[in-house]
Amino acid sequence: MQDSPIGIFDSGVGGTSIWKEIQKLLPNEDTLYLADSKNAPYGEKPKEEIVRLSRKNTEFLLRKKCKLIVVACNTATTNAITHLRENYDLPFIGIEPAIKPAALNSKSKTVGVLATKGTLASSLFHSTSENHAYGIQVMEQEGTGLVELIERGELQTAKTRDLLKKFLDPMLDKGIDYLVLGCSHYPYLIPLMEELLPPHVRIIDSGEAVARQTNAILLERNLLNAKSGPVRHQFLSNTDNTVLKNLLFNVDAEMEFSCLTF
Ligand code: DGL
Repeated sequence: MQDSPIGIFDSGVGGTSIWKEIQKLLPNEDTLYLADSKNAPYGEKPKEEIVRLSRKNTEFLLRKKCKLIVVACNTATTNAITHLRENYDLPFIGIEPAIKPAALNSKSKTVGVLATKGTLASSLFHSTSENHAYGIQVMEQEGTGLVELIERGELQTAKTRDLLKKFLDPMLDKGIDYLVLGCSHYPYLIPLMEELLPPHVRIIDSGEAVARQTNAILLERNLLNAKSGPVRHQFLSNTDNTVLKNLLFNVDAEMEFSCLTF
C-alpha cells in the first residue's frame, strides 16, 4: 500500500491548488488527480447529488488502488465526507474554510468567507463556524459564477474582476480584516483579490493545512512512500483539459494528462 498513489478529486481544476501544496510537501508520493469538470459546479447542486458524485469519484480512485483520498473540494467535503468515511475503508482528508485562524487573529472581529452555496448551506460549515467564531461577525458570501469562470481559465478578465468586486465590496463595507477562501478554485483569483482588497485585509486559504494533514495521516498509518525513484503524477479529466494544463504549467514535475469518461 505504501507505494500506491494519493488520490485527489475536485469538481474540476480548482483542487490543483491543493495538489500543488501536497506535491511540495510530499515530493516522494505518486498522485492521481481526478477533475470532474463535466459536473462542475458542485456548489449549486443538492446535497444528495454532491454525495452521489463524491461516491463516483471515490470508487474510481479505489479501483486505481489509491491509499488515501484527498477531497480537494470544500463543497464535497462539507456535504459528503461524513458519508464517505462511513462507507469506504480508507483515510479521507477534507478541506474546509479556515475560519479558526481568521477568527483568532481578526482585530476588527469581522471576517469574510467566500464559498459556494453548497458549502455555506452545509451543517458541517455551520458547526465549524459556530465553534470557532464565537464573538466574531462572519460575513458569508456565495461566490456564484466564479467556479465557472475559473473552469474556463478566466482568471484575469474584466468579467471575473467585476463579479469578484461585487462580492468583496459589501464585506469590505462591513470592516472585514480577514478573507477566508472557502473553495479550492479561489486561490487562483488571489492576484485579482490583492488588487481589489486594501493591504490590511489578509487572505487565508487551506491548501497548506490540507497538505500537512495528509502528511500526518500517512505517517500515523505507516503509509508514506518508502521507495525511491521516479514519481508518477496523473491528471484525469472528463472534459477538455487545456485549462487544467495551463494551471500547472509552471510546476517543476513530470506530469501525465489524459481525458476520459468517468
Ligand atoms: N473546488 C470546489 C470547492 O472547493 C468548487 C465547487 C463547485 O464546483 O462549485 O468548493
